[in-house]
Amino acid sequence: MDKFVIEGDRQLTGRARVSGSKNAALPIMAAVLAADGPLQLSAVPDLADVHSLLRLLETLGVHAERPAENQLDLVVETTQPHVADYDLVRRMRASICVLGPLLARRGRACVSLPGGCNIGHRPIDLHLKGLAALGADIRVERGYVIAQATRLRGTSLFLGGPYGSTVTGTCNVMTAATLAEGRTVIEAAACEPEVVDLGNCLRQLGAKIEGLGTPRIEIDGVDRLGTAQHRVIPDRIETATLMIAAAITGGHIEITPVRPDHLVAVCEVLERTGVRIERSTGDDGLPALVATAPAALVATTLTALPYPGIPTDVQAQLMALLCRAEGISVVTDKVFPDRFLHAAELVRLGARIVREGPTAVIHGVPRLSGANVMASDLRASAALVLAGLAAEGTTTVRRIYHLDRGYQRLDEKLNRLGGQVTRSDDRPGPAPPHRAGDPRKHARRLATNG
Ligand code: EPZ
Repeated sequence: MDKFVIEGDRQLTGRARVSGSKNAALPIMAAVLAADGPLQLSAVPDLADVHSLLRLLETLGVHAERPAENQLDLVVETTQPHVADYDLVRRMRASICVLGPLLARRGRACVSLPGGCNIGHRPIDLHLKGLAALGADIRVERGYVIAQATRLRGTSLFLGGPYGSTVTGTCNVMTAATLAEGRTVIEAAACEPEVVDLGNCLRQLGAKIEGLGTPRIEIDGVDRLGTAQHRVIPDRIETATLMIAAAITGGHIEITPVRPDHLVAVCEVLERTGVRIERSTGDDGLPALVATAPAALVATTLTALPYPGIPTDVQAQLMALLCRAEGISVVTDKVFPDRFLHAAELVRLGARIVREGPTAVIHGVPRLSGANVMASDLRASAALVLAGLAAEGTTTVRRIYHLDRGYQRLDEKLNRLGGQVTRSDDRPGPAPPHRAGDPRKHARRLATNG
């Protein structure tokens, strides 16, 4: 298990390259289960979550090759397996994305329920409701979803839930519907760019899909999906994280390749805090965004919402930024109202945060100071790293494996910008040799250490 040791209070400046989107790559990789031919992907990020899904896909009969860095060729070699085992699924919730494609192509799927999660309650009832509406027989037994259907049938269905639509639920139902008989209309579909990217890949495979990026997606089922070559979209959450790295360290970063249209809400909120955002073209000719920190950050109020709102996946990083902003900020998360484990760790760095239900109130402080902190989930780790970059002194962020699930070598990217982030092994060293001592001294030491 690794940790980061960050020497803070350094301006980050320069150029950064963003990897392909994790949350687009995962459902796209799973979609190969619905296709006959090879799926050749580029800009696939090299991440722990991608490796976990690859392991699962291999148990489901998929052969994978990496012809070059960030490229992935996938092909189904056997269509017999249909069980996604608990040991593999529990490592990563996005494994649930195999459910729809398996069911649609193989007529049956047995997929472990993903289990608990640090960012709040994460049911999959909407996934199951959508697939049941397509005619699947679904039951949950011994911790597994068991789904069967000779052939799925198109229908109209509604995917809205108490916190908006569902991103991976829309991915599952949309992919399954591509092979259903007749027309499917998904109402209250998720509009996230990652869903659109999956839809575009499915279209290349031969699917007939309209309405991507809107809450109403229409799919005309086809008999088979073929082959495709697809480039995964740039990761908008990594882009936002790097923009915040510029803002929180008083720096200036040009980030490429980006899709500015995927980041409108994030740019707007950053501008409200005083950050200057400019569109430009990177050295490679690809679209870039340039974030420049203001002399002083200004407090603001924001709410994380489904797309095109501010993503919940940037809420923690924005909270880290607002810890340094002058005035009182209010941050609410309407997608995952319990996603606030980072707040207590930010307080260890000197932040002033009070949480009330789905809302945190942040009193900006002029300086943060380095401390030992513990990452609780992927975006919380990013928030702590950002705060550590801005803090005076040394910050140690433990459980960096959370960060590695979703950011490709972020430490190296930050160091190229002038950060000083050292990765090291956090396993406890060998216990010191036991020395018999004076028992009275030992008792005194215990009393002092509490
Ligand atoms: C996706 O998770 C992302 N993961 C998450 O990214 C992201 O935070 C989330 O969407 C919201 O944008 C991937 O794409 C792999 P949801 P997903 O289903 O699809 C409730 C990251 O840091 N809900 O859209 O699992 C749910 O509890 C991560 O990269 C139901 O009630 O999220 C939540 O409140 C973590 N019933 C809301 O909907 C359901 O059946 C949105 O969840 C499904 C969800």
